[in-house]
Amino acid sequence: MCEHAPMGNEGQAPVDTRRALTDPRRFVEENTGILTLPLLPEIPLHLAAEMFPLWQLTEAELTDTGLPPPFWAFAWAGGQAVARYVLDTPDVVRDKRVLDFATGCGLIGIAAARAGAREVTAVDIDPIAVAACGLNAERNGVAIHAEKADWIGRPLDDFDVVVAGDVFYERPMADDVQEWLKGERARGLDVIIGDPGRTYLPKDGLVEIARYCVATTRELEDTEVRRTLVWRFAENAAQAALAGPSSE
Ligand SMILES: C[S@@+](CC[C@H](N)C(=O)[O-])C[C@H]1O[C@@H](n2cnc3c(N)ncnc32)[C@H](O)[C@@H]1O
Repeated sequence: MCEHAPMGNEGQAPVDTRRALTDPRRFVEENTGILTLPLLPEIPLHLAAEMFPLWQLTEAELTDTGLPPPFWAFAWAGGQAVARYVLDTPDVVRDKRVLDFATGCGLIGIAAARAGAREVTAVDIDPIAVAACGLNAERNGVAIHAEKADWIGRPLDDFDVVVAGDVFYERPMADDVQEWLKGERARGLDVIIGDPGRTYLPKDGLVEIARYCVATTRELEDTEVRRTLVWRFAENAAQAALAGPSSE
């Protein structure tokens, strides 16, 4: 997944999971290195490669601590694809108010800020993701308002564009997100998502706008490269009928 070896955490101590609750920023720093992704060499991020002890924690150990899985510690294929698309097509966010929904490590929000968004807000239900997003934004010298929040169902009157990477991996979240974002699209927002073919990706109402081969890790994806598509929620039924995952 990475171009450069991680820095600073070699020979590290075991994961101090209590720290995740008391000082999430420090927890992120202690369990990650600064890595760059082949698809996004211009955005260094705090990420945890397989060699970090965080990856060795079992689900049972995580459950014992009350910690959610460390989704924030990896830049998911869908997020990488949307970030690349936004950097290569800056007009989609330039001078706009952008929401990075389910931000994880903050990658898409950072790309949007770098591409000239007027304001970027990033939300995630995991407070450690919010800390990771804040650290990563600082490292990249961009301003992002990162907040722990579940905004599914909330009207997004203060935004022009919603971007989201890899949010269709489980039910019922995927169904709720689909219904919410279709509604926001109908109210005039631009909605752009990235997805490597997850099970609960909507079957219709999407228009393909880009595709990338994203380097990933066997630990997470069972493959070293995932073909990943960037989709825009269709503006109307006619546009939706022209293209969509089910028509591939
Ligand atoms: C697979 S990760 C994708 C992260 C990032 N978008 C990326 O592509 O790298 C999914 C993220 O969704 C977040 N999440 C799950 N349910 C959520 C909700 N209701 N509201 C906001 N974030 C949520 C998780 O905490 C996690 O960070």
